Amino acid sequence: MRNMEIVAHRGASAVCPENTMSAFERSLELGATGIETDVQMTSDGRLVLIHDETLSRTGGAEGWVKDTTYDQLRTRDAGSWFHADFTGERIPSLEELFKLVQGKGTLLNLELKNGIVSYKGMEEKVIQAIRDWNLEKQVVLSSFNHASLVRCKRLAPEIRTALLYMEKLYRPYDYAAKLEASGLHPYKLAVTQEDVAAALAHGIVTYPFTVNDPAEMQAMIDMGVQGIITDVPDVLASLLTVH
Ligand code: G3P
Ligand code: CA
Repeated sequence: MRNMEIVAHRGASAVCPENTMSAFERSLELGATGIETDVQMTSDGRLVLIHDETLSRTGGAEGWVKDTTYDQLRTRDAGSWFHADFTGERIPSLEELFKLVQGKGTLLNLELKNGIVSYKGMEEKVIQAIRDWNLEKQVVLSSFNHASLVRCKRLAPEIRTALLYMEKLYRPYDYAAKLEASGLHPYKLAVTQEDVAAALAHGIVTYPFTVNDPAEMQAMIDMGVQGIITDVPDVLASLLTVH
């Protein structure tokens, strides 16, 4: 394991439209050692990378991802909302991202967005895709839907899971151990030094999100976290180089 994982949140989302191939590629150029992205499912069962359940903010159209076919979705412009330079950018499929990271040491953090929308069979499809691409060791599955992560663990004990949460938890490492999760992904204000140390003593790593300010990054590093999820991987990479 590297000393500190630099996990690009939705790719290099400060300088590119989030969750696009440009954002993923750029994040690697900027020093990210990992990529975080959001997985949703189209009406015809294809796994695609977009944060919101609807297309209106970043998907260049109205409507829900769950009600849109893959072919329809691929005609949408996922870049021009961010900047005209990115006009024509597409919502990526999960396989496109797999192709980018395969053969590299990049950590791939797939967040399953199966909370607001309940995507039937999503866990099975994601796991099958990971296995088809032999990426079991590179992927960490995360979700705010912890029941979904337990389901993933039952289906694929070999694939790591990490719990996303917003508020401080009582003994989060005990909870993670019960759910057989190997990581904690807390909101940055829910991190404590004691929890980070206790989690590590149980073999559980802590990656807070979403940390963009260098002073906050430093505070997380001082608390002993093993990774940071950030929109600005280059800022974290520079901070770590200085040390
Ligand atoms: O991985 C942490 C983070 O991605 C969770 O929140 O809303 O940015 O998907 P959100
Ligand atoms: Ca996410």
